[in-house]
Amino acid sequence: MPMYRLFTLALVLLLVSCEQNPNKLELSSPDSGNQIIFELINGKLYYSVLREDEVLIAPSRLGMKMFGGKDLMAGFTLTEHATRSFHEVWSPVWGENEQITESYNELSVSLENETGRKLQLIFRAFDDGVAFRYVIPQRDSTEQIIIMDEYTEFNFSEDFTSWSIPANFDSYEFLYRKLPLSQLENANTPLTMKSASGKYLSIHEAHLENYAEMTLVRGNDSLTFISALAPASKGYKVKRLDTVSTPWRTIMLAESAGKLIESNLIVNLNPPSMLEETDWITPMKYVGIWWELHLGISTWMQGDRHGATTKNMQKYIDFASAHQIQGVLAEGWNTGWENWGDSGAFSFYTPYSDFDLAALSVYAAERGVSLIGHHETGGDAISYEAQLDSAFAYYDSMGVHAVKTGYAGGIRPKGETHHGQFMVNHHRKVMEAAAKHKLMIDAHEPVKCTGEHRTYPNYMTREGARGMEWNAWSDGNPPSHTCTLPFTRCLAGPLDYTPGIFDVLLLNQKDKRVAWNGNYDQTSIHSTIANQLALMLVIYSPLQMAADLPENYEGHPALAWIEALPVNFSQSKVLEAEIGEYVTIARKQGDNWYVAGIANEQGHYSNIDFDFLDLGADYEGIMYKDSANGDGLTNPLALQIDTLSIEDHDRLAVRMAPGGGFALRLIKQ
Ligand code: NOJ
Ligand code: CA
Repeated sequence: MPMYRLFTLALVLLLVSCEQNPNKLELSSPDSGNQIIFELINGKLYYSVLREDEVLIAPSRLGMKMFGGKDLMAGFTLTEHATRSFHEVWSPVWGENEQITESYNELSVSLENETGRKLQLIFRAFDDGVAFRYVIPQRDSTEQIIIMDEYTEFNFSEDFTSWSIPANFDSYEFLYRKLPLSQLENANTPLTMKSASGKYLSIHEAHLENYAEMTLVRGNDSLTFISALAPASKGYKVKRLDTVSTPWRTIMLAESAGKLIESNLIVNLNPPSMLEETDWITPMKYVGIWWELHLGISTWMQGDRHGATTKNMQKYIDFASAHQIQGVLAEGWNTGWENWGDSGAFSFYTPYSDFDLAALSVYAAERGVSLIGHHETGGDAISYEAQLDSAFAYYDSMGVHAVKTGYAGGIRPKGETHHGQFMVNHHRKVMEAAAKHKLMIDAHEPVKCTGEHRTYPNYMTREGARGMEWNAWSDGNPPSHTCTLPFTRCLAGPLDYTPGIFDVLLLNQKDKRVAWNGNYDQTSIHSTIANQLALMLVIYSPLQMAADLPENYEGHPALAWIEALPVNFSQSKVLEAEIGEYVTIARKQGDNWYVAGIANEQGHYSNIDFDFLDLGADYEGIMYKDSANGDGLTNPLALQIDTLSIEDHDRLAVRMAPGGGFALRLIKQ
């Protein structure tokens, strides 16, 4: 279904000359709850942010450090400013909601410094946050604009409690830290915070295109953080041969933690879909030759224990076909794994001799299953770009319409980082080439999501977090980590966390594993089975993996939850939430609702209010929850399945064990 505009209520353009006193300009959200204020003080640029009249970001400097010392930091005069309002309701191709409201007020400020260099600042205020971007006009078509660093301050008004991962230009695969801002040295975004008065805010970016990602480092003051862009190999941060429109610097604002999750600020700050035809874009659940590789049962590389064999793939296809799972992934299907790390190691169109892609494509199609391809680049973007078009054409010819990509390793060209401008542009090339070949993408070791799936809805999901794989070969992800993801990483967009492990103690695998990394004796998943079921709903991904092995699912009564689970919803609501502690989300598809909650090490007692159900209707509920003695650390297999009858006026008490959760399917009668 193509993305289309439902209606436009207002589009007002007001050009205001600067004869009055334009040195302080205020912009409010449509509901007046949020405010962003621009100030020009002694030729310097400042902004501040308020929610319900409480200052959350005190006056903070804006500017750009440019090549050759021609900084855009001071000496400015304001030449013009304009405001406008925008309101539209649009329908994404897939997602958590079938309609998204985009409604904001905008202020654009045109400035000029004493050298005549122009700079424009554009501010937008939405009901769920505020944002701004810089525009540096190119003076003639030959001018190269070289940014040495962006100087955007975030001068927080108090010592907020914060949740974030450390700043790093090559990885997001870290555990979340909960720290007062005064103890934070640096952070990657989303950086989520809570004020003493109970307000929530989260800093991130939107529409990252032809630029470098932004991290935050502490400035001189303990509550001031300054943008630090991922560097390019040549020492600058961004080099462009056109007018620079930076990504939006976004500040989500909310009265509750759940409202952060419900925000659409990031997608709303991206351009509408570029794709005219979108009926080939199909959200799906998938299984695949993946977890067994990370467990060390089989190998990516061809050999005695090779995972991606034709026979093994048929097993996964049979399983998917029998259990309403639409996609099957195979990693380690192509030559090159033995040379991982070498330049040009991987071939993306040469299957290993024991993997018959052509035959498997037919086998899968006959069983109503789609194959999901895999391109591990090892970080070698040069070689991948050279093969991109033909590799995608090859997959297309084989009936493969989704590809998981990966960048596990140092980036080639040498000196570039995973999150710098070079790789930001690389990922754009991949999304554009994939759109041309009608391929959906799931990127691992990506650059952070900044909402580009609005523009390229074939860019379905990505990793960019410490996901399930860490449970296979490290001390694992604590429950507080997964309880923080929805309020941090997931605010940016879909996450391929790869949940759904039933053998959480890894008992069935113990004697089959051959260590290739880490100490396997210490591995287990710090989560109950109910928690794993819940993660599949709570952590949204339009390509959602049921990551365990078919033999661990076969015959298990909880498999019915996975079979029934949709991956595209008409409506989503957060029923209760506290960052790092617990979160319960309800999602609707058709007449039915799916409700799931997860809890941290402390567990949580939920009291679900079903007032979101249709008035007077009866629902059959199938509840998967932790048994009374269930515990993510000591008794994770204890699962209880109940059948209930539920109506809109009902309430239901549910105990989530430490590291536990619940999953409830509500079928309208
Ligand atoms: C890292 C990815 O995150 C993981 O999912 C994949 O299996 C390996 N790289 C190998 O490509
Ligand atoms: Ca990874």
